[in-house]
Amino acid sequence: MGGQESISNNNSDSFIMSSPNLDSQESSISPIDEKKGIDMQTKSLSNYSKGTLLSKQVQNLLEEANKYDPIYGSSLPRGFLRDRNTKGKDNGLVPLVEKVIPPIHKKTNNRNTRKKSSTTTKKDVKKPKAAKVKGKNGRTNHKHIPISKQEIDTAREKKPLKKGQANKKNDRDSPSSTFVDWNGPCLRLQYPLFDIEYLRSHEIYSGTPIQSISLRTNSPQPTSLSSDNDTSSVTTAKLQSILFSNYMEEYKIDFKRSTAIYNPMSEIGKLIEYSCLVFLPSPYAEQLKETILPDLNASFDNSDTKGFVNAINLYNKMIREIPRQRIIDHLETIDKIPRSFIHDFLHIVYTRSIHPQANKLKHYKAFSNYVYGELLPNFLSDVYQQCQLKKGDTFMDLGSGVGNCVVQAALECGCALSFGCEIMDDASDLTILQYEELKKRCKLYGMRLNNVEFSLKKSFVDNNRVAELIPQCDVILVNNFLFDEDLNKKVEKILQTAKVGCKIISLKSLRSLTYQINFYNVENIFNRLKVQRYDLKEDSVSWTHSGGEYYISTVMEDVDESLFSPAARGRRNRGTPVKYTR
Ligand SMILES: C[S@@+](CC[C@H](N)C(=O)[O-])C[C@H]1O[C@@H](n2cnc3c(N)ncnc32)[C@H](O)[C@@H]1O
Repeated sequence: MGGQESISNNNSDSFIMSSPNLDSQESSISPIDEKKGIDMQTKSLSNYSKGTLLSKQVQNLLEEANKYDPIYGSSLPRGFLRDRNTKGKDNGLVPLVEKVIPPIHKKTNNRNTRKKSSTTTKKDVKKPKAAKVKGKNGRTNHKHIPISKQEIDTAREKKPLKKGQANKKNDRDSPSSTFVDWNGPCLRLQYPLFDIEYLRSHEIYSGTPIQSISLRTNSPQPTSLSSDNDTSSVTTAKLQSILFSNYMEEYKIDFKRSTAIYNPMSEIGKLIEYSCLVFLPSPYAEQLKETILPDLNASFDNSDTKGFVNAINLYNKMIREIPRQRIIDHLETIDKIPRSFIHDFLHIVYTRSIHPQANKLKHYKAFSNYVYGELLPNFLSDVYQQCQLKKGDTFMDLGSGVGNCVVQAALECGCALSFGCEIMDDASDLTILQYEELKKRCKLYGMRLNNVEFSLKKSFVDNNRVAELIPQCDVILVNNFLFDEDLNKKVEKILQTAKVGCKIISLKSLRSLTYQINFYNVENIFNRLKVQRYDLKEDSVSWTHSGGEYYISTVMEDVDESLFSPAARGRRNRGTPVKYTR
């Protein structure tokens, strides 16, 4: 069954739960049989007992699944139900942890483009906008059009390419690809993202972030180098830090490992393009765009190691020649950046801290509250914007996993406090690793990281810090996709002190469809929730490519009138209004 359990439910829909733990439950059959010493003669009996065990397991799983009270929106979240017509179609379900480690596509690698296999497919490429065309390797290709003024301010007149600098591949008339979507959405900076004071007072970088060269590139999960890599025969290249002349990061350049999930060449390409899009003032940005980027892209497209390394070296030389002051002055003035920059930056941190040990995130019981899954950066950006999460706000993630949502809220929105609480040991340890790496890399890129705080290896239930912070939260996230009824009840209790205006993002409705105000719940904050349901776009979460739904519940001043029971409504209509205020 390969980690998938298929049975019929009452509605004759097929139902599939996909979880790595199902694998472990199934594989537990064989060792038991082995211990019993079952031989070939008793094979039929063995098959029978296997069948019995299996159906018992199926039954257990069903019982577990029934923990999800139907009053919470639906008995099981929509994303867990298989399409009726799945023939030849991706049913949208993949083992969670397989998806926790996103395959890295050559030029479109980030956690938003997490797909079911490491090789890109047609599906991997979003329908291109006018200037984009589909290219080989499933990349987003762009016609070489001038960088718009929105991307880098006041673009200069294009200089003609120098002779011999561009080969046929990057001929201006033929479509060429880029590492970054140059026409993607911009993020208007709500707070000074770049720490100009720090940059002016620090010329030397003294951090020790995890180096790319220490990561595996050819396994499903890059782990530390020791066991698989012989670097002696591999070409390496160093990339000059744009802000600190004393720091270079070393990368392996190896185009043969095409199925790699971590692609160092793609990371280099993105970083160089972001130099152009974010860090360099216009004359230098234009120079980089016109002289080095075409060769960098063409050599990548042709898997030309020598050309690629050559382009990196030219870039390094160019960066070293730019007065640092000019770059800092430029960073002081910018008010928007490509949104993908934050996502790619966080992904660089994630590949170094989480990827190597992502297997640890498998350690949970299927259908339990501790099932691990992630909300992906594009979705988070959208929903934070929807909730108007902004500079100075307090954000909280109840069940923060490895801390992704917390750090993205801090970096992208400049929250005064971004807080996460996580109960599982491994996820908590990885949270620390990720946060440490993030702090080092923020310094390297001169970025400000506002207050981040975690309550780790602790439940959010009966947690003093959580209780203390809830009343000041502007946005609370609770990825309750698989929280059972009991935990949802506890979440409800925790949320009682949320302030008016607080927005709560959840994957299942906090308030049941059948919820009504009655004598016993008059004071419940749920009476004052305005609950709005939204469609989840495809590729918003790590556990399925399919969409689904999510909810934003806003705490209102007054009671939600729709909650009155028909009886209460009747009384009101008869002129005896029931007063439900705080
Ligand atoms: C589906 S993950 C969500 C991770 C992250 N918030 C995200 O959306 O990307 C849910 C997390 O909640 C954690 N969790 C479950 N019950 C918890 C509790 N009582 N206290 C703290 N964390 C809990 C689980 O261990 C798991 O890491």
